[in-house]
Amino acid sequence: MKLNQHLLNQRTSFILLFILICVWGTGLEAQIPSGGKKISDELLGLFFEDINYAADGGIYAEMVQNRSFEYDPTEQQGWNPFSFWEYMEPGYSYGRISVETSDPVHENNPHYMVVDAEFIGNYEEHEGKSGVGLKNLGFDGMVVKAGDTYNFSVFLKQLSNAPVTLDISLQGTDGTVLAENKIQSTSKDWKKYTTTLVPSQSRDTTHLVILATTKGKFAMDVVSLFPEKTFKNRPNGLRADMAQLLADMEPKFVRFPGGCLVHGDGLHNMYRWKNTIGPIEQRVEQRNIWGYHQTAGLGYFEYFQFCEDIGAKPLPVVPAGVSCQNSGGTWRIGGKGQRALPMDEMDEYIQEVLDLIEWANGPATSEWGSKRAAAGHPEPFNLEYVGIGNEDKMTSEFEERFTMLYQAVKQKHPEITVIGTVGPFLEGEDFEKGWEISNKLQLPMVDEHYYIEPDWYLGNQERYDTYDRKKAQVYLGEYASWGNKLYNAIAEAVHLTAIERNGDVVKMASYAPMLAKKGHTQWTTDMIFFDNTTLCPTPNFYVQKLFMKNSGDHYYENVVNFSKKDTTLAASTVMDSKTGDVIIKMVNAGKVPKSMEVNLSKFKNRVSNAKLTVLTGDPEAENTFDNPDNVVPVTEEYGVDKKFMYSAPAMSLSVIRIKTKT
Ligand code: AHR
Repeated sequence: MKLNQHLLNQRTSFILLFILICVWGTGLEAQIPSGGKKISDELLGLFFEDINYAADGGIYAEMVQNRSFEYDPTEQQGWNPFSFWEYMEPGYSYGRISVETSDPVHENNPHYMVVDAEFIGNYEEHEGKSGVGLKNLGFDGMVVKAGDTYNFSVFLKQLSNAPVTLDISLQGTDGTVLAENKIQSTSKDWKKYTTTLVPSQSRDTTHLVILATTKGKFAMDVVSLFPEKTFKNRPNGLRADMAQLLADMEPKFVRFPGGCLVHGDGLHNMYRWKNTIGPIEQRVEQRNIWGYHQTAGLGYFEYFQFCEDIGAKPLPVVPAGVSCQNSGGTWRIGGKGQRALPMDEMDEYIQEVLDLIEWANGPATSEWGSKRAAAGHPEPFNLEYVGIGNEDKMTSEFEERFTMLYQAVKQKHPEITVIGTVGPFLEGEDFEKGWEISNKLQLPMVDEHYYIEPDWYLGNQERYDTYDRKKAQVYLGEYASWGNKLYNAIAEAVHLTAIERNGDVVKMASYAPMLAKKGHTQWTTDMIFFDNTTLCPTPNFYVQKLFMKNSGDHYYENVVNFSKKDTTLAASTVMDSKTGDVIIKMVNAGKVPKSMEVNLSKFKNRVSNAKLTVLTGDPEAENTFDNPDNVVPVTEEYGVDKKFMYSAPAMSLSVIRIKTKT
């Protein structure tokens, strides 16, 4: 009897709780005006590929170039383990150097430098340092700031009986010593030594000099210099100004490590995530498909950590077991270079992909989770998405391998959303076949790519309006209009309004490529240009940022009205249910101002003093290193009524943000 009463009470409590949750839920929903539709709340993110020196020499803050003496001529004609180093023997000293491989720090890092300092000059006539050693030229030099700390580290192995003293300095191109310190080898086995350098002056082009100042012979490898002030002060971290610029965009996700870099230039060049974790001296360096060197110092741990640091979801893309169809430069003859992993290697490769999920999400006690924990992150990274394949040619080899990978992930990790690929273009054979495979396998999401003239975006605003909502959702993983003028950015803004309108089928989108170093670009339309001192965000960047920072999760039709026949005009209205803000974006890609009628009557409790941000200017205007702020958005207070007319300036994106919650 008592038990029955207890069960009854428990049931009543559950029912009451359920009713309470429903009432509370309805209360929340009530703040969202009816008539809208739910759209993705993670629509816009970043595409990161190590192209244009985006990683080494870019966002990865390492200042030493060719730190492990692994450069080779397959990367660029004339490159070798000595590239970007210079031999030095100041003060009438003399010695010898050689690159050796017989007893490396780690088998993944085969080359190292041997320095034999035979004689150290000690002449009164010589001013300055005497010694035998090397100078590193950095990535177009090394920028240092007076008073900042730079962390130096090196692996040394003493080969002579007597210990060797090394003088480590930062020197200007005129030889001025800006910072110096000493270390002494103490071990006949490989051992890591560290010291710090604090420059007395700021300079944009310095070099790192390592000189043996006592007689002796030693081996050295993994010579590293990092600013202490990296993004969030992380060791082996990222260039702070660049990472902050990206963080300030408030992206919802970051896709990495590419792009074509993922499937690689031939099977041996595929990006294999396991090669990029663990101590940097154990990572596998390799030729970058874009024709330079990847240290993998910015590896999977660093990518995931960056995502977490900026509140973005990680979106790794792994190869689908085939290499790039353009491998070996075969894009010149129609892209015949796709090679497939032999079937007898597929089990191992599938396991590699499954291990990635365990590494990211598994408990610290699991085999791969323990490696994440050992790197300093015992908590899971909460991976939700894995992309498989990038723009691959839709061959039977691809389909077979993709299917195996997809089925394996789906079976073992149904919680992970797998993103398929539908080729490099917005239509055509690979696109059609990619969608066919997706429909057959009932993929949850596919990755579309297109780089195209700006006018296309204006004339094709309805692309996603007719997409079948029952099929895969879309991740627009790479897109841009060809160019970095304001007109290009405004054309992309037009497209983004269409993407917001279709945010129920387009789940995510990312502009590509993201970063490009001055003098080292392989792809000319990019979001942010940079050199060692300056960041030069393009107008395209500002469009992305305005949409990212003003995203919503509910979309409303007919808030902004204008002539629908005018393809130079576009608008979208979203509400962010978290803040209660209503955000209107209006785009005018035409040459004269145009009026738009705004009707806010469905949004209750709105305040009248809104914020208006406008990006506008000459359609040909660009941001340059001489004038990086030529095209930037301007924000002002703006009064709004229930209904009002807005005059959208010629060639502009206008964003009005209105509060409905105080
Ligand atoms: O974003 C540059 C390149 O364009 C990517 O690597 C590739 O996926 C696309 O073709």
